Amino acid sequence: MEILRDPEAMREVAGQFRAKGLRIGLVPTMGALHEGHLSLMRRCRAESDVAAWSLFVNPAQFGPHEDLARYPRDPEGDGAKAMGVGMDLCFAPEVAAMYPEGYRTFVDVAELSGVLCGVSRPGHFRGVATVVAKLFHTVQPHVAYFGQKDYQQSLIIRRMVRDLAFGIETVVLPTVREADGLAMSSRNAYLSAAARKAAAVLPAALRWAEGEFARGGRSVKALVDGMRQCIAAEPSAALEINYVDIRDAEDLAPLETIDRPAVAALAVRIGGTRLIDNTLLIP
Ligand code: PAJ
Repeated sequence: MEILRDPEAMREVAGQFRAKGLRIGLVPTMGALHEGHLSLMRRCRAESDVAAWSLFVNPAQFGPHEDLARYPRDPEGDGAKAMGVGMDLCFAPEVAAMYPEGYRTFVDVAELSGVLCGVSRPGHFRGVATVVAKLFHTVQPHVAYFGQKDYQQSLIIRRMVRDLAFGIETVVLPTVREADGLAMSSRNAYLSAAARKAAAVLPAALRWAEGEFARGGRSVKALVDGMRQCIAAEPSAALEINYVDIRDAEDLAPLETIDRPAVAALAVRIGGTRLIDNTLLIP
């Protein structure tokens, strides 16, 4: 697997692949790879001539009091995992190469970035959109792969791709879960044993909402209240709801009744670690 650190070298290599008519697939990541990332890579491998992934812990998407400094890093383990699924190329730039002295330009996807996770993480999605735009310009993929785990992020990237005419296909793949339902996340490594056990309440609340929805429940208030009660019933750890919400699955507008495709999404802090999850409710 080739590892490229210099954005200019990456652009040049990408240009050569394109000139040969090869299809480039890209999986952007911040590393600490788990099965969720690997599921995206396997699909990328299967559908691309050149299967590329990026490894970059993007400072622009972390708030001043967030976990940038302690974000889990394991470049060697990540390289072995990516090679194991047959990836061809890794783009792993230094921070100074992505944000050199004097860097001033940011991509802001209005409205979609200001709700759900955008409320408690101001500037987060601006950082995500900006770095993904730069990765797209540098790696020049024909197709890029994202996880439904970060549902709002995937909507924002799709909106940016359309609005700024990137001409890149975006594929969003299902959330990969642990045996108890917890969505895999690099941040799960922060959880103590007790917090890890309690975290199963997130997928349990979503499964409850899916059940109610399947039985005909369409009231957003009733479903949100029920999910909150599921979470409140978990006694064992310091658990703090950030949000529990159900919104239009396309534009994240508020809903009272689920009369169109909707997303149930939640963010909960458990012992200081913020976890997110979501599920689609399609009438
Ligand atoms: P990161 O959290 O490393 O995730 C990289 C990709 O893996 C994202 O598209 C994310 O949605 C997907 N992913 C994470 N956990 C998953 C799971 N359990 N199942 C399926 N897919 C999962 O998301 C980011 O990095 C960054 O914001 C990035 C897009 C790389 C920009 O910096």
